[in-house]
Amino acid sequence: MITPEQFRFFADLVRSASGISLTMGKEYLVESRLNELSKLLNLRDIDELYHKAVRQMTPQLKNQIIEAMTTNETYFFRDQHPFDALKTKVIPELLAGKGADAKLKFWSAACSTGQEPYSIAMIIAEHFRHLANGKVEILATDISKQVIEKGAAGRFTQVEANRGLPITMLIKYFRQQGAFWVINDDIKNMVYFKILNLIDPFTGVNGFDVIFCRYVLIYFDQETKQQIIQKLEKALNPGGYLFFGATETPTGLSPAMERLTIGKTTCWRKKRH
Ligand SMILES: C[S@@+](CC[C@H](N)C(=O)[O-])C[C@H]1O[C@@H](n2cnc3c(N)ncnc32)[C@H](O)[C@@H]1O
Repeated sequence: MITPEQFRFFADLVRSASGISLTMGKEYLVESRLNELSKLLNLRDIDELYHKAVRQMTPQLKNQIIEAMTTNETYFFRDQHPFDALKTKVIPELLAGKGADAKLKFWSAACSTGQEPYSIAMIIAEHFRHLANGKVEILATDISKQVIEKGAAGRFTQVEANRGLPITMLIKYFRQQGAFWVINDDIKNMVYFKILNLIDPFTGVNGFDVIFCRYVLIYFDQETKQQIIQKLEKALNPGGYLFFGATETPTGLSPAMERLTIGKTTCWRKKRH
């Protein structure tokens, strides 16, 4: 059992390093995640992990604790409708505004193991083929080194490949390698992966036409959420689009952002003036 003192210690550590808010009532979640980490580190139990963290904290251990607290649930074409919106309205509108030689910049902020940025890349390959040749950049970032490495490898298990991905796309854009499916280079080359903590300043991370920041704000408290939303807004080009998860209601967007409904999706567009 995790003690209240231990819970407070880990919750404070995780909040200050990642913004993830572990409020009372999440003891069970924290306990089960830290139990797994203790096993991985060959420690007896949470008690031993706690004492190690208090007495001999290292940057590596801190990262491992934070990674253990992240929820990395994701799948290809999650919710489908934001990807339909890209195809039917967002990309055609951005291209019309920029001209034929346009370059489009996307950002999947909190990309987990890569299914989201690769889904965007497959929409480009499938419907805007001319852009696939160096005219699209998709930045994929996450706080967790583990998921970034997995995303960059572009290698998925059969179960992961079966989640959300139409079989026709699996055959077209992946090749089988033993028990895994590896994404083809033309899709992979559109995406570059990088570690980025959303609570840090977005130095040099700007000029985006589309930002997906989905199913991550739910883990932050109100103040952190608002600060991140304001930074995301600044990182967008005029005319650019911002998408959140379907269950997330963003607060703190400025009047420069207009709310749009495209098919079944709700998103925000930065006004041009
Ligand atoms: C539930 S996944 C969402 C993945 C994807 N956006 C989707 O909708 O399928 C949430 C991701 O947010 C990441 N995350 C949590 N806190 C973060 C932070 N402070 N900065 C960047 N990423 C963070 C986690 O590591 C995790 O991979």
